[in-house]
Amino acid sequence: MNQPVQSFSTTPVRSLPAAWYWDPAVYEAERKAIFAKTWQFIGPEAEFAKAGDFRAVQVAGYRLFVIRERSGALKAFHNLCPHRAAPLLSEGDGHCDVLRCRYHGWTFATDGRLMATPNFGEAGWFDKKSHGLMPVRCETWRGLTFACLDDNAVPLVEFLGDLPALLEPYPIETFGKLDQAEFAMNCNWKTYTDNFVEGYHIPGIHPGLNAAVDMTRFETTHQRGVVIMKAPQKGGSIYGGLWLWIWPNMTLSVYPDGMNTSRIIPTAEDRTELRYEFYFADRSPSLLEKHRATIETNCQIVREDFGICEEVQQNLKAGIYRDGPLSPRHEDGVQYFQDMVRQSLGDHVGQ
Ligand SMILES: [Fe+2]
Repeated sequence: MNQPVQSFSTTPVRSLPAAWYWDPAVYEAERKAIFAKTWQFIGPEAEFAKAGDFRAVQVAGYRLFVIRERSGALKAFHNLCPHRAAPLLSEGDGHCDVLRCRYHGWTFATDGRLMATPNFGEAGWFDKKSHGLMPVRCETWRGLTFACLDDNAVPLVEFLGDLPALLEPYPIETFGKLDQAEFAMNCNWKTYTDNFVEGYHIPGIHPGLNAAVDMTRFETTHQRGVVIMKAPQKGGSIYGGLWLWIWPNMTLSVYPDGMNTSRIIPTAEDRTELRYEFYFADRSPSLLEKHRATIETNCQIVREDFGICEEVQQNLKAGIYRDGPLSPRHEDGVQYFQDMVRQSLGDHVGQ
């Protein structure tokens, strides 16, 4: 049996300070130091099949959208009219040939150029050319599209660390999206992420999952930018696979006949949304019922975590708990994630 090598260091490994989970100043620091600096998963490129197809998202208060422009290129922009800051698109997926701001009717081409400013009036100082949409970097890797607000960030494939090597054996491009699911919970994004990157809580919180996997052989490790969780399945269930978390807020789980992705989206210091997408290799009608059951099982596991995350959040905020010890056997992922947060925030917040 391959157990991860355990270290017997005498240096205590402890969780982040409780205040980091509710302090608005920490959240503000994270917005700037993490979410404005990292590549953010937007969705499968197949969502942008035709010119004009778009997905508008928000991440920690930053609104942006990705759109397939007429030339065929994928572009991303801040979802923000340069006139008076109105969002151009409602959050979600859609199609448009021209982007029209509903506030004052300004229109933009899908490449971001300002086309018309109806009834603006004549002004010698006003130059349309310098009032196009604000571009955001956009790249696609193996059918998955990402955007990044930081012009100085490393290219996507470099940012993804060891993810490309880990997914090399899996034909993820051949998995087509079948469905999606959205969730919201009253906790900090790190409260949920701490939960996602460990399997230690599976016996306590997920009885169904616990019965389906061999917990004595559950492994959590990390490589560059990725936490890797594996557990051998006991029978032919959906669970036997590879569960990955990718810095700072994406997850990707591969199962025998498909995968799911999720985005862990902070919307406030105590509010988090999850956007799951489910993909399968074979989507023939005869398999749809089986796939629906896989998706429902998956969503059930996700929902099982909400109650405990919300109660943990309340205790983190109540002011009694300061921090706690992390398990060398099971909480390597938690330690890795929290170290990344510490490094990113650096001097932004006090320890
Ligand atoms: Fe869980």
